[in-house]
Amino acid sequence: DDQASGHAAQRPLWSNRLGFVLAAAGSAVGLGNVWKFPYIAGVNGGGAFVLVYLLCIALVGVPIMMAELMIGRHTRKDAIGAFAALEPGRRWWHGAGWISVAAAFIISSYYSVVAGWTLDYVWRSLHDGFGALAPSVIESQFGTLLENGLRQGLWHLLFMFLCLAVVIGGVQRGIERWSRILMPALLALLMLLFVNGLRSDGLEEALRFLFAPDFGRLSADAWLEALGHSFFTLSLGMAAMITYGSYLKPDENLFGVSLRVAGLDTLIALMAGIAIFPIVFAAGLEAASGPGLIFQTLPVVFSQIEGGALLAPLFFVLLAFAALTSNISLLEAQIAYLIDERGWSRRRASVCVAGAAFTVGIPTALSGNLLKNWHLIGERTFFDSADLLASSYLLPLAGLLIALYVGWFWRGEAEKAELIQGGCGGLYPLWHGLIRYVAPLAVTVILVNKAIQAGL
Ligand code: PHE
Ligand code: NA
Repeated sequence: DDQASGHAAQRPLWSNRLGFVLAAAGSAVGLGNVWKFPYIAGVNGGGAFVLVYLLCIALVGVPIMMAELMIGRHTRKDAIGAFAALEPGRRWWHGAGWISVAAAFIISSYYSVVAGWTLDYVWRSLHDGFGALAPSVIESQFGTLLENGLRQGLWHLLFMFLCLAVVIGGVQRGIERWSRILMPALLALLMLLFVNGLRSDGLEEALRFLFAPDFGRLSADAWLEALGHSFFTLSLGMAAMITYGSYLKPDENLFGVSLRVAGLDTLIALMAGIAIFPIVFAAGLEAASGPGLIFQTLPVVFSQIEGGALLAPLFFVLLAFAALTSNISLLEAQIAYLIDERGWSRRRASVCVAGAAFTVGIPTALSGNLLKNWHLIGERTFFDSADLLASSYLLPLAGLLIALYVGWFWRGEAEKAELIQGGCGGLYPLWHGLIRYVAPLAVTVILVNKAIQAGL
C-alpha cells in the first residue's frame, strides 16, 4: 500500500490546462487533417459535408473523447490499468484497454514510416528543390522513394529517434514542453500557407470545392465517411486520450477541454484545405487525397509557383511536426502501461516501446520494395494490412467498447461526479444520452461498413 501511494504521488500531471490542450491537440492534429479532410469534404458535397462532419464531431467525437478523458482522469492509469482498476472482477472489459494499446502499437509503427517520408521531402525541398524539375520527374520521385527500403528505413529510424527524445523527457518536460513549442510553430506555418492560399488565383474555385453546399452529393457513404473520420481525426480508440486524460488535474472541466481540442482539430483541417486547394487549382491540377496529394501534386505545384522554394520546406516541416506530436501520444499510451502496470522506469519503457515500434515498422518500410509481394490480409501488403487492422477494426472496436462501458456499465454517480467537478453538471443528461445511444450506434455502423468495404 505504501509503495502504491508513493507511486501515485510521483505520477506526473500536466502543468496547466493549456499544456494539456496543446498536447492533446498535438495528438489529434495529424496527417488526417491535411491529406484527408479537405479532400473528402470537397468530393462529398462541400459545405453540406462540412455540416455533417461538424455534427459527427459534436455528437459522436466529443462525447467519446470526454468518456476517454474521464476514464483516464478517474483512474489515473494507463488504458489497460484503467479498465483493470474499474472492473477488477470482470476481466473481459480489460479487453477494451488491450485493444486500444494494441492499436497504438501498430499505428505508431507505420505512422513513423509515413512521417519519415515527410522528412525525406523536407530534405529534398531544401536540397535540390523541385523548381528545376519537370512535373513527371517530380511525380516519379515518390515512387522511387517507395522502392527504396533503406532510405525509408533510415528516415523512419530518425523520426522514431526524435519521438524517443521527446517521450523520454516525461510528461511535463518532454511531451508538454515540445507540444508548447511545436503546436504554435505548426499554427504559424499553417497561417503562412493559409494566407498564401487566400491570395492565390485558385481561391474562388477552392472555396466552391470546399464549401459550396451540394446536398445532392451527400450520399449514405458520405455520412459514413464523416463518421469514421471524426473518430480517427480526434485520435479516439487508441488509448492516447485515456492516457493524456490520466495526467489531468481532478478539477479540470472535461467538456471545456474536449471542445477546445476538437475545435482546434477542426479549425486546422479547414485551414489546411484553404492552404492547399487554391494553389492546386491555380496550377490547373486536380484535387486528390492521401499520399498522392502530399507527395506528388503539391511538389509539382511548389515547383511552379512564386515562392514555392520557400513554401515547400515550410509545408513539409509542418507535416513533420503534426506527425511528431501525434506519434508521441501513441508511444506514451504504451509507455504509460509499462510504467504503471509493470513498474518499469520511464527510460527503459521509452527505449523499448520506440525500439519495438521501429522494428515492426521495418516491414512497412519494405512494403513497397523487398516485401512488395508478401500479402497478409487478402491482397494487402504488410503496411496496408497493419493499417486495415488498426484503423478500420481496432479503433472503432475500442471506441464501441468504451462508449458501451461508460454509457451502460459504469456506475452513474462516478461519471456524474467527474463532470460536475469541472462545473458542467448541467450538460450531464445530454452527454449521457449521446454516449449511451448515439455513439455506440454510430460506431457500430462504422464497423459494419468497414467490414463490408474490406470484403470481410
Ligand atoms: N488524429 C490523427 C490525424 O488526424 C491520426 C492519428 C491516428 C494520430 C492515430 C495518432 C494516432 O491524423
Ligand atoms: Na486529426
